[in-house]
Amino acid sequence: MEKTYILGISAFYHDSAAALLCNGTVVAAAQEERFTRKKADSSFPINAINFCLKYAGIEVSDISHVVFYDKPILKFDRILASYLHTAPFGIRSFIKAIPLWLREKLWTEDKIKKDLNYDNDILFTQHHQSHAASAFYPSPFNEAAVLTVDGAGEWTTTAISYGDGNKLNLLQTLDFPHSLGLLYSAFTYYCGFKVNSGEYKLMGLAPYGTPIYKQKISDNLVSINADGSISLNLKFFDYISGLKMINRNFIKLFGMPARRAEEPLTQFYMDIAASIQEVTNDIIVAMARQAKKLTNSKNLCLAGGVALNCCANHVLAKSGIFENIFVQPAAGDAGGALGAALYVHYALSDNPRTPQSHDQVLQLSGLGPDFTADEIEALLIRHGLTYKKMNEQQMYAYCANALDDQKIIGWFQGRMEFGPRALGHRSIIGDPRNADMQKKMNLKIKFRESFRPFAPAVTEDAADEYFDIPDSSKLLTRYMLTTAAVAQKHLKNTVAVDSVQNKFSLLETDRSTINAVTHLDNSARVQVVREKDNPKFYKLLKAFEQVSGLPMLINTSFNVRGEPIVCTPEDALYCFFASNIDILVLECFILEKQSQSVKMDLTEWKKKIIQD
Ligand SMILES: [Fe+2]
Repeated sequence: MEKTYILGISAFYHDSAAALLCNGTVVAAAQEERFTRKKADSSFPINAINFCLKYAGIEVSDISHVVFYDKPILKFDRILASYLHTAPFGIRSFIKAIPLWLREKLWTEDKIKKDLNYDNDILFTQHHQSHAASAFYPSPFNEAAVLTVDGAGEWTTTAISYGDGNKLNLLQTLDFPHSLGLLYSAFTYYCGFKVNSGEYKLMGLAPYGTPIYKQKISDNLVSINADGSISLNLKFFDYISGLKMINRNFIKLFGMPARRAEEPLTQFYMDIAASIQEVTNDIIVAMARQAKKLTNSKNLCLAGGVALNCCANHVLAKSGIFENIFVQPAAGDAGGALGAALYVHYALSDNPRTPQSHDQVLQLSGLGPDFTADEIEALLIRHGLTYKKMNEQQMYAYCANALDDQKIIGWFQGRMEFGPRALGHRSIIGDPRNADMQKKMNLKIKFRESFRPFAPAVTEDAADEYFDIPDSSKLLTRYMLTTAAVAQKHLKNTVAVDSVQNKFSLLETDRSTINAVTHLDNSARVQVVREKDNPKFYKLLKAFEQVSGLPMLINTSFNVRGEPIVCTPEDALYCFFASNIDILVLECFILEKQSQSVKMDLTEWKKKIIQD
């Protein structure tokens, strides 16, 4: 049978990526940042594309269709219209943005053809079509409501579609400047985090606060309409006319200036974080209700940057509006590359679609490069490093004992993850029982803020023992895309968080049997691991259970602050030597930090890592 290859590309805005399909099956996908080592790299993803082609063993000339994930001319239309609407106030950002558009973005087709050395026409899907396709087509549902929510695509900021078989029909849109993604990003900026990447931090901060500003936000900044759409009060925002997200009116409303990046996090900003999280939850629920009303489906697929908000996903799952919820792990713009390719295969080429089985769905978690034992050993020898080679059983037993001994391990196995979460292929792991472990891993391993929560990976057989997971969340827990409450019987010494002045001090107290992964609101961003999805990670969890009695580990992404998740064994070595990770496990090779007589030179590596 002749093979049809479709290459999807997302680029030039945020988090560029490439994805390759062969007869509709995803062969490979990766984000450009993993190769260039520049976080959220938005440049043309030539490295990611080359990886995909190499992995499939094909040349550019073998590709049937190349598709780009949005329509640059429509995006330009939106930007131009916004400037004209607010002129002359947007002149500064207008002057800054236009040369790039004229030089590069409007000529996307020419650029792709030239950079790829590809002669055929390039296809373009709309931004929210790509998001919707990235969520629906890989889902296990034959039909589903599809809700896509992000900052802004071309004009659309939110869309409700209906997926049925191989069809995907758009039902309702909300246009720029009314945008939940931009509202959340405005608060991300206000709390001193970087827009487009610090949204996780704002979400992680929310449990430390009380939502006392929720009403103020609802009364002044955003209203939820009867059709599930929202209207932002543009008097308070500056993202249309200037280079900032918010303006003086916003600051006056809350009576405090925007926090600068390295200033202390006071209770005020924690309360702000808690308040905007609650408003976000309400909006997502309203949008989901509308999606239900329009489709009457029991299934929901979510995509767009907002779909990565685990707390909102949890509230949505608990609301019971939908029986099943699915979020594809690269739900942000990187996933647009995958969605665009899938849209061409199903919607445009009219290929029949059988919904993925629940098992197949999980193949999506590892679509990146992998490395052979020979490649890894050659690298270790080249650097003169001391290592042990073990068989699998020895490796699990060794790691389990080391983890029980409070060692922190860099765990590198198989194909790199696609999307922002590390799911046991490129992870840093540790023992979740100890309250000190969260602090140690944040400050000494990741070099990041001590309040940032860590996620637990738990075996499927033990998940319900430790967490209250609603049925509608089951698919989300596979990808660490929702929170769940820690089961009551595992909580200890619960205190009213509001009554404690220094909330960070609570992190060091004994609050549960799994302290390092229990957030202040007694929730956890849980990953449920099944043997069939990730056998090595599952076996490691079981080995740790044998030693410690607990089938659970801290699972955080293998990188330090400001660095993309490691891609190659060499990246892992740099991260190992740059941090206080005790042990590095590269497939079956074990490196102990204390046994090393040579160190890697980190000078060049450090230059590449841009702190956020
Ligand atoms: Fe997007």
